[in-house]
Amino acid sequence: MKDLEKCKNKKTFVIGGKELDIPVIQGGMGVGVSLSGLAGAVAKEGGIGIISTAQIGFNEPDFETDTLGSCLRAIRAHIMKAKEIAQNKGMVGVNVMTALKNYREHVEEAVKSGADIIVCGAGLPIDLPSIVSDACRKFQVKKPFIAPIVSSARAAKILLKHWADRYGETADLIVVEGPKAGGHLGYAADEAACPDSVDFDNIVKSVIDCKKEYEEKFSKRIAVAAGGGISAREDAEHVFSLGADAIQVASRFVATKECDADERYKQAYVDADKDDIVIIKSPVGMPGRAVRNAFVRSIEQKSIPVKKCLSCLSKCNPAQIPYCITDALIKAVKGDVDNGLIFCGAEIGEIKKISSVKNVIEELLYI
Ligand SMILES: Cc1cc2nc3c(=O)[nH]c(=O)nc-3n(C[C@H](O)[C@H](O)[C@H](O)COP(=O)(O)O)c2cc1C
Repeated sequence: MKDLEKCKNKKTFVIGGKELDIPVIQGGMGVGVSLSGLAGAVAKEGGIGIISTAQIGFNEPDFETDTLGSCLRAIRAHIMKAKEIAQNKGMVGVNVMTALKNYREHVEEAVKSGADIIVCGAGLPIDLPSIVSDACRKFQVKKPFIAPIVSSARAAKILLKHWADRYGETADLIVVEGPKAGGHLGYAADEAACPDSVDFDNIVKSVIDCKKEYEEKFSKRIAVAAGGGISAREDAEHVFSLGADAIQVASRFVATKECDADERYKQAYVDADKDDIVIIKSPVGMPGRAVRNAFVRSIEQKSIPVKKCLSCLSKCNPAQIPYCITDALIKAVKGDVDNGLIFCGAEIGEIKKISSVKNVIEELLYI
């Protein structure tokens, strides 16, 4: 095995003046798939480890009676734990879905707890700069870097213009997510089902073009990471050849010993073939990519009534949805892989064994 220290990639990945050892950001994975274990391990290798805050309090005893309180407590605990694992290497951040009802509170808690970077997807984080600035003032803490996730140059343009005009600020990093990604997708269902119909290379290049104006305006560098379906070194090289500074990788990190999901969840990734992947309609209102397990086959036939609503999403009507996504994701991550929803990227058919974070990084960057 090559030693990461000896074969550092020539590529530099700088965010807000801080140089990272490796050009890798691990994509946030909710519910409970990327917590302190995975995020800490990626940061320890010199990359950016991301904790998903989506329903992060699910293991707390009062999760059902005080959902917000348990989530805020868990955000703090996982940031602290990940930083301890990382031993001052890399960065530890959070992924907060803008579709969450308590999106603002989650961002505030992450800022207060010392997250190095706040990444927001599942919608455009229009007011993120002000939430972060207010929280920094209120808690007297250092400002974290901020990063939106976009799926088009149009979204990047709208957001960067809005942030510049309204808040006099810009992004530190932009994550461009392609149609081969896992979880919720910012593409139409037919594009998600046929990812090669999308000119993702062009999207990445257009986002890189559009951020230049704001780099000049704010005299700072805005890094770009691109991801979705990166499973081998050639995929990473391709993204770098388009001009991206880093790769965002999620699925490959699920099948690692450090990933926070139950072993049965990881094994479901190893067992799944390309043909086992399906595009589902999520109650969030976006298409999502998942393993076509017994749960998915059952919701294709009939809805599962919501027993208890924890009001996790800002736009969700429990009476109208085919199933509760929180319940389904929690079941899966705890190991009930037949009755839960297993989100995945388009290339999980390539995952053949449970590995380690270090091995995955070596394979993606050096082997
Ligand atoms: C199990 C799983 C859960 C995910 N959950 C989230 C999430 O909560 N928020 C988010 O912004 N992206 C989420 N994603 C997307 C990833 O962060 C990442 O951008 C994407 O999956 C990258 O593609 P890859 O999995 O092929 O590497 C999820 C992906 C997976 C596989």
